[in-house]
Amino acid sequence: MRTLRVLELYSGIGGMHCALTESCLPFEVILAIDINTTANKAYRHAFPATKLSECGIETLTEKQLDEWKIDMIVMSPPCQPFTRVGKKLDTEDLRTKSFLHLLSLLPRLTNCPSYILVENVKGFESSQTRDRLIETLHTCRFNLQECLLTPLQFGIPNSRLRYYLIAKRAPLKFCFKTTEKILDTIPSCASRWLSYKLRKRHGSSTVSGSAETTLTTDTKKSAGITPSSTVATDTADTSANTSGGNDVPITTISSNELLSQNCSNISGEGDKKGHLVVPEMLSSNSCLPGRDESENTDKYRALLKYGHNMRQLETDVRKLSEECVNLEHFLEQREPDYFNAYNLTDKELRRFIVMDIVHPCLTKTICFTKRYGHFMEGAGSIVQMTTDVEAVKRASEFKDSAMELQNRDEWGTEEISIIRALQLRYFTPREISNLLCFPQNYSFPEDLSRIQAYRLLGNSLNVHVVSVLLRMLVEGDT
Ligand SMILES: C[S@@+](CC[C@H](N)C(=O)[O-])C[C@H]1O[C@@H](n2cnc3c(N)ncnc32)[C@H](O)[C@@H]1O
Repeated sequence: MRTLRVLELYSGIGGMHCALTESCLPFEVILAIDINTTANKAYRHAFPATKLSECGIETLTEKQLDEWKIDMIVMSPPCQPFTRVGKKLDTEDLRTKSFLHLLSLLPRLTNCPSYILVENVKGFESSQTRDRLIETLHTCRFNLQECLLTPLQFGIPNSRLRYYLIAKRAPLKFCFKTTEKILDTIPSCASRWLSYKLRKRHGSSTVSGSAETTLTTDTKKSAGITPSSTVATDTADTSANTSGGNDVPITTISSNELLSQNCSNISGEGDKKGHLVVPEMLSSNSCLPGRDESENTDKYRALLKYGHNMRQLETDVRKLSEECVNLEHFLEQREPDYFNAYNLTDKELRRFIVMDIVHPCLTKTICFTKRYGHFMEGAGSIVQMTTDVEAVKRASEFKDSAMELQNRDEWGTEEISIIRALQLRYFTPREISNLLCFPQNYSFPEDLSRIQAYRLLGNSLNVHVVSVLLRMLVEGDT
């Protein structure tokens, strides 16, 4: 396949660019465009070789788009006009203007792109802006599919339900039967890209019960897994290895190496891997079995029991999260002091009742929004570092009684000390990047503040989910 010329609109920190890389499609981002200077600083840092423009998308012209000879447009237009908590001004919102302008240009192009991918929040699907998008795409003879998907469906312990549209221009056709309905599952043709792997450790393999759950026989076959694989392995190979212990060094293979190995497979004998490879990062309070003695099993059972009481779990996603990788694989492995800066202050601990508290052995976090670090309720999960069952039990009972008394924050020092014993901290930007499946070599500029990083990540997307959609979009045209 020839190299796709991609225009990345509303590029933010480059989530789409990362997804293109993960998809292993041959591509070149010929131009990225965003008006946010902080986002652009992060984008330039991550992709110094990519041309980036700070112009408003509403200033683009038909002539420019034609001259650029674009094959694909990927974009996440501003979502505020469609969010559940916003005013839902939709087409009347000034922030939709640039997107509507782009839609007005498409039918007038001589060189209309062949592929389009749009990402937005849940809510977009019932907007007038969406209706205009569909109308325009039909006028331009696009075949299309809309989806509502969350990373939880991909084995990733993070809830982020998003609207996606993939469209390709006739005579190009999808490799699956499209429907006017909004899909909330992945067509079977994409199932081979869904599984993830844990990275192999030197001389030994990684053990994870939950990893097994998303590896179907088919995906194992298509991945061509062998016990001697140098990249990753699955739990089927690892049963003899539960006593591997902490002292086994984690492999230092870089995500680029992993990617190139995955990519090189893509062109060979139909073995299209593209698995998400989760770096194995075990925290000191790891919940993997076999780490210690059998008493750990009871301990973690107890931690889970009380831990679930401190969650804000939506019932509709509970089942999905059972299939996900343990959260601990997404956490940074650092000296305890490193996390001091992320500890919650006593003032923040007072928001205990509305927090979504997660222990590393759980399999779901709530969506991290751009308000993370500012707001507690619904803005993202909080990590509980303690593994002291008594401390967790006390906090769980305290939560129950506070709810019963309808006392949300009128607490004295004793109550605060119960909550403090949970050792609660924020996720680090790196950990949120891991949950969003940004590659390990993705980094922010050093002078970006933590709050700025949270804001940018909250606006971004799940790289793995988009990479699967990109493959679904282009599959069959190679
Ligand atoms: C939802 S975020 C996209 C995030 C991006 N996909 C990422 O991975 O970070 C929307 C982005 O659109 C940008 N934006 C909003 N209005 C714009 C306009 N008129 N022209 C260019 N960029 C705009 C914002 O600065 C923001 O970064």
